[in-house]
Amino acid sequence: MEPRPTGVTTTSTPIWVKQVSEGYRPERGHIGITETSFARGNRSIALIDQISPNLGHRPNVLLVGLGLDAEPILHCYEPFRVAAHLEGRGIDYTMTLVDATQEVIDDIRSRSAIFLLGRKFGDGEARKILGNMWVKYLTDTRQRGRTTFEVLEGLNFPDFMFDPRAMVGAHSYLMDGVYVADVSMQFRQKLETGEINLIHQDIAVADIETRQPYDYVEFTNVAYLMSPEGQKMALANISRHMRAGGLMLVDDIGGYSGTPLLSRFKGWLDEEKLHDLSLIVDEVISAEKFSETFILKKVS
Ligand SMILES: C[S@@+](CC[C@H](N)C(=O)[O-])C[C@H]1O[C@@H](n2cnc3c(N)ncnc32)[C@H](O)[C@@H]1O
Repeated sequence: MEPRPTGVTTTSTPIWVKQVSEGYRPERGHIGITETSFARGNRSIALIDQISPNLGHRPNVLLVGLGLDAEPILHCYEPFRVAAHLEGRGIDYTMTLVDATQEVIDDIRSRSAIFLLGRKFGDGEARKILGNMWVKYLTDTRQRGRTTFEVLEGLNFPDFMFDPRAMVGAHSYLMDGVYVADVSMQFRQKLETGEINLIHQDIAVADIETRQPYDYVEFTNVAYLMSPEGQKMALANISRHMRAGGLMLVDDIGGYSGTPLLSRFKGWLDEEKLHDLSLIVDEVISAEKFSETFILKKVS
């Protein structure tokens, strides 16, 4: 019987990935494509809980595209929330953080405190949910929160919000009070030892090799910002560095963006390409008309 044509070379890089790699120009990223929020790490936290009891070794985590625009402040949250969760569970870990935007990497490297705007808590159910997340961060990192009514280092309102003519100025948020907590000592130490590794590069070409392959990868709200060529190289790069059985959380808002991943949105990622990358769809978390959130599993 003829073997199935997989498009895989002897080095396991599919031919179609090699083809797009030639002449590819890496993205440099910029503020404005970095929207995020305090709540965004929730799915990763749940998935890491699912896999970590069965690992038998400390989890190696890769977070790609970390975010900074937590409107109206500039603040990266995801790595701090995921790390806090692991620390709260007493799970030692290594983590690689990749982002194409220099300011995102700088924020993570320099940040010593986490801020959450009191007004963001809103009313009713939303207030309860965000409040619980904040309390969880404090509990996981074993600290009591505080409230500030003045600007502290790391509380980065955009300059225009200090203009007295601003419709909604920084002072109005400060009057409500801003919640403050420390970045955990363990996070800061791991940054120094390299157990948390910061990489300012386009994930399509980033050098993400570590001593052990990744058990868990988050790749959410990033692919829609990439060209199809970059997406192909990114998924090949990530998959190459995953452990067999490792999981990758992906979302595709390709129904809205001009560069869909999934074939159902007229993107390039179909069963055959997944096969070539040694990936399968392990679970579809939500499938909307224009967007899909799903988990990929590395099979070999
Ligand atoms: C919309 S934010 C999403 C942040 C976070 N994952 C979330 O869901 O809240 C996209 C992030 O991906 C980063 N990014 C965009 N293109 C990238 C690329 N090619 N490689 C690595 N990071 C990229 C941006 O700098 C930004 O921080």
